[in-house]
Parts: sequence; C-alpha cells; structure tokens
Amino acid sequence: TETALIVVAAGSGTRLGRGVPKAFAQLAGATVLEHALRDLGWLPARIVVVVPSGYEADASTIAARAGVTAHVVTGGATRADSVLAGLAAAGEVRFVLVHDAARALTPATPFDRVRAALEAGAVAVVPVLPVVDTVRVVDAVRAVDVAAPAGADEALGAIVDRSTLRAMQTPQGFDAQVLRRAYEAAGDARADSTDDAQLVQALGEPVVAVPGDELAFKITTPADAERAESLLSQKER
Ligand code: CTP
Ligand code: MG
Repeated sequence: TETALIVVAAGSGTRLGRGVPKAFAQLAGATVLEHALRDLGWLPARIVVVVPSGYEADASTIAARAGVTAHVVTGGATRADSVLAGLAAAGEVRFVLVHDAARALTPATPFDRVRAALEAGAVAVVPVLPVVDTVRVVDAVRAVDVAAPAGADEALGAIVDRSTLRAMQTPQGFDAQVLRRAYEAAGDARADSTDDAQLVQALGEPVVAVPGDELAFKITTPADAERAESLLSQKER
C-alpha cells in the first residue's frame, strides 16, 4: 500500500472524565474508537491504531467489529510519542495520514480532500475551519492555572482578528519521509506538539489547508460527548 493511516487513540481522556481512556469510553452503544473506525474500510490504506498499554487486544476486537483490518500498537505518554509509535509501524509508505480517534464522527470528505491534495503534490495538508468565537490573547501576568474556571486568574489582552485564525483538525496528511524527518528534527521539543503539521512547518516545508468539517470536531469534554451522542442518534433514526 501507498498510504498508512495512523489513528491515535492512546490518550487518557482526562477532560472527558469517564475513568477509562477516551477511545474506550461508550458513546451511543459503541466505543469512541469503534465510531472512529467505522466507515474507514473504504480507504486504501494500511491502518495503524495506537492505544494505551493494556488495551491492545480490546482494540483489535473493536477494529474487527468496525469492519477494518488494523495493526494495533502501544502508544506513549504524549500524543507525539503515540504518533511516533504509529510511524514505526506504518512501514514503507509514500503518504501518512494522522487522525485523532477523538474526532470520532469525521465523515469521508476531509479524508478525500487530504488525499487529493497529497496526490496533487502537497507535502503536508491540514483540514481547517474558520474560528467562530471572538478570541483574546491572555496576558500571562502571573502563572495561570488552566484548571481554574476560565478567566479566574487572567488579565485579558487584545482581541485577535478571528478572520486571520483557523482551527486545525485531522486527518492531517503528509509525505511520509517529510513527517519522519520533522519528528527527528523536533527531538524532545516534540513533546509539546499537538499538531503534526506544526513540526513539518518548522522544517520550512509548506503546509496547505483544505476545508475541514464541522462533524470532525474533537470529543474533548462531556458536552462534546453529548453532542456526539445526539448526532449519532439522529443518524441511526
Ligand atoms: N493521544 C494519544 N496519545 C497520547 C495523548 C493523546 O494517542 N499520549 C490521542 C488521543 O487518544 C486523541 C488525540 O490524541 O485521539 C487528541 O488528544 P486529546 O483530545 O487531548 O485526548 P486525550 O489526551 O485522551 O484527552 P485529555 O487531554 O483530556 O486527557
Ligand atoms: Mg490530551
């Protein structure tokens, strides 16, 4: 195969707070991971699923139930470590797509757009959405406790013109060699990265944007899970 799809599912899901790793939390009768893998069987790609230690067998069962053949590997402490574990299992491929399992409702469209851009010669492709909220920079006068209620300990700085902003989604697509080089070059700094394209950009390689999709939102908080469940129940009706 020419393409590997790395589905990173090794996070703990702290913000969701279900007491199980997020990909293994139940959502409308199936795990987040099963929803994420459903409808990916059509992709001409070697699928690598990266999960927390101890969840490998579960993940294989879930993948089979979702109708995909997946190579399951163990992830790491950070998302970047999990992507690296996926890359090590991706094999000799031309393209790599990296996708968050937490974006469990992602339709086929962004996958198609990213693939098309790679076929057309792009080395890095990111699906993006406009930012709908008005956003401000926080002046970090003193250390801000991110766990505190929003605004508790922050001085508000300037409003950023939201027309200049885009929210990054997945699947992100890469020339496999470029992505591998980006991770090598980043070294320990990769630990802070939640965005693979950022590491590629740091190499000086161009990153192109394609339209993302509202349904590719990341299930992060309990409110996100409720939204996902309501969308899934509409779909099943
Ligand atoms: N991820 C991963 N390995 C990690 C951390 C994250 O594979 N060590 C994956 C998650 O499983 C998820 C995606 O990266 O599919 C995006 O991460 P995020 O939404 O932050 O998920 P969690 O890290 O699980 O959630 P939280 O930050 O709330 O703990
Ligand atoms: Mg996280």
